[in-house]
Amino acid sequence: MTSAPSTKPSGDRPWLDPAAKPQIVIQNVTKTYGAFNAVDNVDLRIYKGEIFALVGSSGCGKTTLLRMLAGFAEPTSGRIVIDDADMVGVPAHERPVNMMFQSYALFPHMTVEANVGYGLRTLRIPADEKRKRVDDALQLVQLGHLGKRKPHQLSGGQRQRVALARALIRRPKVLLLDEPLSALDKKLREQTQFELMDIQYEVGTTFVIVTHDQDEAMALSSRIAVMNQGKVLQVGSPSEIYEFPKSRFVADFIGTTNFLEGTVVKASPGLITIYAHELDCEVRVDDVGRVSAGQRVWLAVRPEKIWLSKEPVAGDTVNQVRGTVWELGYLGNRSTYQIRTDRGKILTAFLQNDRRTAERAIDWNDTVYASWEINGAIVLES
Ligand SMILES: Nc1ncnc2c1ncn2[C@@H]1O[C@H](COP(=O)(O)OP(=O)(O)OP(=O)(O)O)[C@@H](O)[C@H]1O
Ligand SMILES: [Mg+2]
Repeated sequence: MTSAPSTKPSGDRPWLDPAAKPQIVIQNVTKTYGAFNAVDNVDLRIYKGEIFALVGSSGCGKTTLLRMLAGFAEPTSGRIVIDDADMVGVPAHERPVNMMFQSYALFPHMTVEANVGYGLRTLRIPADEKRKRVDDALQLVQLGHLGKRKPHQLSGGQRQRVALARALIRRPKVLLLDEPLSALDKKLREQTQFELMDIQYEVGTTFVIVTHDQDEAMALSSRIAVMNQGKVLQVGSPSEIYEFPKSRFVADFIGTTNFLEGTVVKASPGLITIYAHELDCEVRVDDVGRVSAGQRVWLAVRPEKIWLSKEPVAGDTVNQVRGTVWELGYLGNRSTYQIRTDRGKILTAFLQNDRRTAERAIDWNDTVYASWEINGAIVLES
């Protein structure tokens, strides 16, 4: 890769503008339980109107970070500033923040309307205004027709939307959502993702959303922070995280990746030659030359960047290896191939199924050539 994705500073990407002011500043925040750092020196800036996703494996500190933003836990050290106000010592109910919990609890004896309106009970606003806000919030999550029901008369997905409406009704400047769509099936989850984006657009609230679903993070968010063991490893737009992961952990966590361990043979700006041990051949990448000859690196190749053919690609033998089809999975819109190279390395490739045919062009045990362009991979140093 010769350059990072096009990055023009603009209103919808304030993080690229050094003059823009973040709405939430998380500065060197650590949360310790005994000798264990649940959140470890996290530094993040989040801007108004973002849908900011926190992703990472179970136990990496996502909920703990949200709880500190909401005021349900205090950092052991570090600072949290929201809308210019230092949040240390500010109780949860005085923060311009609302949180929808991972295990949200609706009041079982109350109707949907009463559940949603519950958040308004302490606000001094007229009853008809309250009524209208409940209606609006239910409309927003498309549950206007179910206001009179009790939670047990709803599906899991509908209950989750009630919880969302309840979280939105106080019109917080920042809404923290902990796995808000986890109870929904895939279709409904995708639909609700779009609704969340619409809500964000209409209400202008900043969302910080925890999800373990990487596709959801990619689809929803302006930016993603990938966490591991309490630390933030990388922050970036979905395409930056996907196309330019900075470490094997991030490349592996988001999407599927083939890793090839290698040693740099030659590094010149824009062209790096690497000896790939497991393939026993040289491969080339047009990455910018940060690395130097002799260095141990990993090449990351996304499965959709690998091309399979029964004949070698004519003329250019760079980044081409021979193998056989080891596994084949039909996934409707695409097929997943596992290719066992002559040296025994397994490579995963995705091929789009663009033709409707019972015959597969490339089938089990076929000898194939897997190839990728010099701009189809990136070099990782760790
Ligand atoms: N009150 C507590 N006392 C001790 N350890 C805690 C406490 N709360 C959380 N932890 C630990 O801190 C770590 C981070 O927990 P956290 O709930 O933030 O993880 P998470 O990223 O939200 O995980 P999940 O995806 O499973 O919800 C975990 O190892 C957890 O066991
Ligand atoms: Mg959690």
